[in-house]
Amino acid sequence: MSTPWAKPEIWDTAAAKYNDAVGRSSRIGAKRLIELSPISRPDARAIDLGAGTGSLTRQLAASFPNLPILGTDISPGMLDALISLDKKKGSQITTQVVDMASPIGGEASEGKFSHVFSTMAIQVLPDPASDGTLGQWARLLKPGGVIAIALWNFDENCGPHAIWNEAATAVDPNYVPPPILTPQAWTGCADLEKGLERSGFLNVKTEVVHLGFDVGKEGFLKFFWESGNPMPVDRQGSFKGDLDKVRVEMEKFLEVKYDRGTRIPLSAAVGVGEKPKTD
Ligand SMILES: C[S@@+](CC[C@H](N)C(=O)[O-])C[C@H]1O[C@@H](n2cnc3c(N)ncnc32)[C@H](O)[C@@H]1O
Repeated sequence: MSTPWAKPEIWDTAAAKYNDAVGRSSRIGAKRLIELSPISRPDARAIDLGAGTGSLTRQLAASFPNLPILGTDISPGMLDALISLDKKKGSQITTQVVDMASPIGGEASEGKFSHVFSTMAIQVLPDPASDGTLGQWARLLKPGGVIAIALWNFDENCGPHAIWNEAATAVDPNYVPPPILTPQAWTGCADLEKGLERSGFLNVKTEVVHLGFDVGKEGFLKFFWESGNPMPVDRQGSFKGDLDKVRVEMEKFLEVKYDRGTRIPLSAAVGVGEKPKTD
């Protein structure tokens, strides 16, 4: 399965800076997801799909030092960053390159995990409920295992998108931002809840978590213009006018409307469900 967002090279480029700005927000969503996913069974073993630099993997390891965790991603660069950020001696984290669209293989074997986690990654997939992807995630789980997913809430309050749109249209009022995701990709809680239920998970619970992208004006400008993150790179590529002027407008919006970048709205949808104990 291929989408513009599921290419290792675009994430390899973003790996070095990912943890600074975006990782800060991801970690808040990941923390909540861990709280919603009790880890008590003696045979517990977790996999993180699209783990990136380990926003969830590393917090999970810190809370459950004896829990074996397989951090996986399509981008080797992201996994290298995850390992170098995991400074804990004796950590039970291992990593493997895995395409989450068809994850089974190697250490990511069928029925091996009590918990399948994924944060801020599933929306790169075009249609995860209908195309069988979630069915494959279920196959990774033991009977009664827990699936726990977080994704960006791409609603009208999504600050990073809004700031770009405002700055770009201030320079070119005719600019129409192209859609970020493919039409069936998930954008929030309703998609997550429906997708988990349609894929046969039980006791599905979802909620919206406020994250904020409050990295300050300079932090936002670095994220947008220097981090190599695929989202800003894609937005810049869609603009045919003078990007230097957009940057100037962006600085003004950050200064005034977003309180020097200390109030940039962003939220996540988080949800958990259980694999039935019998098929
Ligand atoms: C927005 S980042 C989220 C990273 C991390 N989970 C977090 O919450 O900070 C999306 C991640 O998904 C990974 N990714 C994109 N397509 C993928 C695929 N098909 N299979 C596995 N990982 C993928 C990217 O390399 C990137 O690390």
